[in-house]
Amino acid sequence: MENRLNTLLADMVVVSHKLQSYHWYLKGAHFFDDHAQLERYYDEMNENADAVAELMLQLHMSPASTMKGFLSLSGIEEAAGGEVSSAEAYSHVLADFEYLLDEVYAVKAAADEENQILVSNQMDDYIASLSKHNWMLRQVLK
Ligand SMILES: [Fe+2]
Repeated sequence: MENRLNTLLADMVVVSHKLQSYHWYLKGAHFFDDHAQLERYYDEMNENADAVAELMLQLHMSPASTMKGFLSLSGIEEAAGGEVSSAEAYSHVLADFEYLLDEVYAVKAAADEENQILVSNQMDDYIASLSKHNWMLRQVLK
């Protein structure tokens, strides 16, 4: 469970920074709205990462805490770093949120098998929020 949660934590940290990169490098007519939306996403993802790390500490596990460690654990590819349109940014965000949602479901299934109630319950919050975000992102990308 510790390894699974560290991988989830690393993925959340990398996604959070990736969202901030898109927030910075966004271009186009929808800049004002989408710049603000991307900020809401990375604020939420930062809170998620913090909550996963603090849950691990409650459970006497050791959360990863270095950028080097996060990058070696994460399965998320970093943002390229150049300017992006809203559609480009949102299609990457949707792909990463779908990846995270699959991962969160897998963590919940493993937690249920191991009777880790706190972990299982916390995953419910991420399943709910990511599912809603992904529906909305699919609507934006139509
Ligand atoms: Fe900002």
